[in-house]
Amino acid sequence: MSIHCQLLILILVLTLDDQVHTGEIIGGREAVPHSRPYMVLLERSMQDGETRHCGGFLLNEDFVMTAAHCQASSYTVVLGVHNFRNSNELQRISVEQAFPHKEYNETDFNNDIMLLKLSAKAKLSKNVQPIALAGRGDGSPKSCIVSGWGRTDENIPYMSVVLMEVNVTLIESKQCPTNNMYCSKGVTGPGKGDSGGPLVCEDGKAYGVVSHDFRSESGGPVIHCFAKIPD
Ligand SMILES: *[C@@H]1O[C@H](CO)[C@@H](O)[C@H](O)[C@H]1NC(C)=O
Ligand SMILES: *[C@@H]1O[C@H](CO)[C@@H](O)[C@H](O)[C@H]1NC(C)=O
Repeated sequence: MSIHCQLLILILVLTLDDQVHTGEIIGGREAVPHSRPYMVLLERSMQDGETRHCGGFLLNEDFVMTAAHCQASSYTVVLGVHNFRNSNELQRISVEQAFPHKEYNETDFNNDIMLLKLSAKAKLSKNVQPIALAGRGDGSPKSCIVSGWGRTDENIPYMSVVLMEVNVTLIESKQCPTNNMYCSKGVTGPGKGDSGGPLVCEDGKAYGVVSHDFRSESGGPVIHCFAKIPD
């Protein structure tokens, strides 16, 4: 084999290897289509005319939960999505009113939760179902799953076309930057555009909302923070 050929293979292997480590929801896999029928793709119309996206989740026929930092001028929720380029059987419903948590703090992201009241009832089906929220007495979760259409690599400026999901292991709440949060450590986890999606744990209930990434000034691993859904 020529040196050239060997180099080419080496480069290919390194590139692929790199993708394995950084490609991803970050670090996840494609969700089984419609296995998470509560997932909402939230289209946000911004003041500057741009459209941006967040995740969200269906609580009942009238309400969607998302993150308070996903605030926009107006919103449309899209239900029953797996691949958002495939518009079969999607439901698009505009939002009548947004209720960001009254104590949302945009500096430290405390209480990063928002409720959206839909302008028309969601039509429930196999692909569109609400998720239960964790309540008092549900204990402290440890193994959870996060899903979203956010970027799969910090260096790719596009959303994922299909819903991705990733397992996260929660660390002790006292290691979180502020109260009222769940956290996981390390790059694997939600990325840009996954905000507002649910943190779903062992019992299949939603415990938190994808909020933000925290990097301590002294370095150390990135911490993914999830707003705790109040009981
Ligand atoms: C918001 O968080 C910052 C940083 O923790 C804190 O200094 C500030 O007092 C908080 N604001 C409110 C209104 O609680
Ligand atoms: C992710 O978590 C689920 C449920 O806890 C578990 O069944 C599955 O094996 C985990 N997958 C990976 C890749 O760790």
